[in-house]
Amino acid sequence: MKRTNESEIAKELILRAKEAMMRAYSPYSGYKVGAALLTEKGNIYTGCNIENSSFTPTVCAERCALFKAVSEGETEFVAIAIVGGKNGVIEGFFPPCGVCRQVMSEFCEPKNFTVYLGGKNDEYKRYTLSELFPESFDKGNIEL
Ligand code: THU
Repeated sequence: MKRTNESEIAKELILRAKEAMMRAYSPYSGYKVGAALLTEKGNIYTGCNIENSSFTPTVCAERCALFKAVSEGETEFVAIAIVGGKNGVIEGFFPPCGVCRQVMSEFCEPKNFTVYLGGKNDEYKRYTLSELFPESFDKGNIEL
């Protein structure tokens, strides 16, 4: 993706997140969630939630996108956009769960990583990861 201004980046990522949302596999909850992750190299990795009859193995859209990127050798990230709603109808903002925030914090610099939440009618909210996940537990908290 070309680096343009911030609202262009947000728009493009939200569009890609909406496309990914439609690929959600969520027969149990009916909620469709999509994410689009922008890497430092300018690539975009998308993800959707993938549910399971045993419930626990369900993976969120955000982690799907992050794991796809990491498995392709990318570990430096700029921003993620997230959209979601019942049956893929976006009624409001769909913030990332705590587990996804924790996984983001493993790879992303909290003050520099941006989280866009896409809402109705092209509305979006913008946060840094540090705003969404203060005082996180990370590699600095364990001695290796
Ligand atoms: N979900 C996500 O994909 N991302 C989140 O951050 C929160 C929840 C999914 C998991 C499940 O398939 C559905 O939304 C309802 O919880």
